[in-house]
Amino acid sequence: MEDAHGHRIAYLRVSITDRCNERCQYCMPEELQEWLPRQDILSYEEILRVLRVGAGLGIRKIRITGGEPLTRRDVLGFFRAVNAIEGIEDIGVSTNGTLLATEPESSGITMAQHLVDAGVRTANVSLDTLDAESYRQTTGRDYFNRVLQGLDAAKAAGFESIKLNMVLMRNSNEDQLVPMIRFAQDRGLLLRFIELMPVSTRDVLRDDRFLATGSTKKLIESEFGPLTPRPDYKTNGPASYYEIPTMDGQLIGFIGAMTNLHFCESCNKLRLTCDGKLRPCLGSYLEFNMKEVLRQPDVTDDEIAASFQHVVDRKPKEHDFRNDYLPNRKMIAIGG
Ligand code: GTP
Ligand code: 5AD
Ligand code: SF4
Repeated sequence: MEDAHGHRIAYLRVSITDRCNERCQYCMPEELQEWLPRQDILSYEEILRVLRVGAGLGIRKIRITGGEPLTRRDVLGFFRAVNAIEGIEDIGVSTNGTLLATEPESSGITMAQHLVDAGVRTANVSLDTLDAESYRQTTGRDYFNRVLQGLDAAKAAGFESIKLNMVLMRNSNEDQLVPMIRFAQDRGLLLRFIELMPVSTRDVLRDDRFLATGSTKKLIESEFGPLTPRPDYKTNGPASYYEIPTMDGQLIGFIGAMTNLHFCESCNKLRLTCDGKLRPCLGSYLEFNMKEVLRQPDVTDDEIAASFQHVVDRKPKEHDFRNDYLPNRKMIAIGG
């Protein structure tokens, strides 16, 4: 599948739940929580059907997100089924990390190990601070130690890559930039700094909370000296990577959706929300009701494929975040 701007679409992000065991201020603060009714959420069978059709159309990379994806029942069986789909080459999970060290069904095997065994190659773990108290303030939960244990479990399980996602917040976690870089280096994790995006509705998205990747780079350079761009280094997503020469070439990434004017140029993805909407872009109101198609009696795979093409044909050149975009739904249901 190719869109009108020459992007080859090979990456599908799939949110499997809007539920989460944390309450991050920038994503789903306490007062925003109202879960979607169960019948509105796609079943695993429905999602798998969409993925099979997608794989037939050239989808090669799947990232499972939420909410917190690991809170959904029987999630391991789902990952195994995704892994069995012909054509899918790369499966990743984006998680808050709190459940990676748990042992599902008293198996004596960690969630992280089960995920690797089910064919998941990369884990992207949210961590905005190394200070337990500010962790509690940002996420609404006292789970900092669980995340540390989760990262240990992920390391032991042998994911091909583990990334740390740190959302940048002015007057909140600038003091964590240097400790986070050292932490990532010590543990062999790939740290990325993410600009706040307007996908929640609360005070936290006020302008004075926004910290740009450009200012962040300067703060980092004042500690470690000049960064070297690594335009040749790419993961599947939109991050730009830099090396820190004074730290043995340690790599760090920047996800600057708000200030990087080239951010969308190589976008290769679609999103499937947990309630069955296929979206061509995180920062656009466009979405297509795939659930309605899926739930029509006798719907054929060709009809599902036509829906994919319909969305790809309407994929915007770039997001609308810089144009006073206000989310019409929570990040959590879209999956970031
Ligand atoms: P890989 O590079 O494949 O590991 O994944 P990723 O960076 O795309 O995924 P992850 O779930 O870790 O997302 C990191 C951050 O990037 C989150 O805040 C996402 O919302 C954001 N992000 C990922 N893709 C896009 C995108 O296409 N547009 C925008 N605006 N943000 C994105
Ligand atoms: N802005 C930027 N990133 C966000 N995430 C969640 N909400 C926001 C937001 N408002 C990030 C999380 C997670 C990833 C999937 O999305 O930190 O790492
Ligand atoms: Fe949950 Fe992640 Fe959203 Fe935080 S950012 S509320 S951990 S889904």
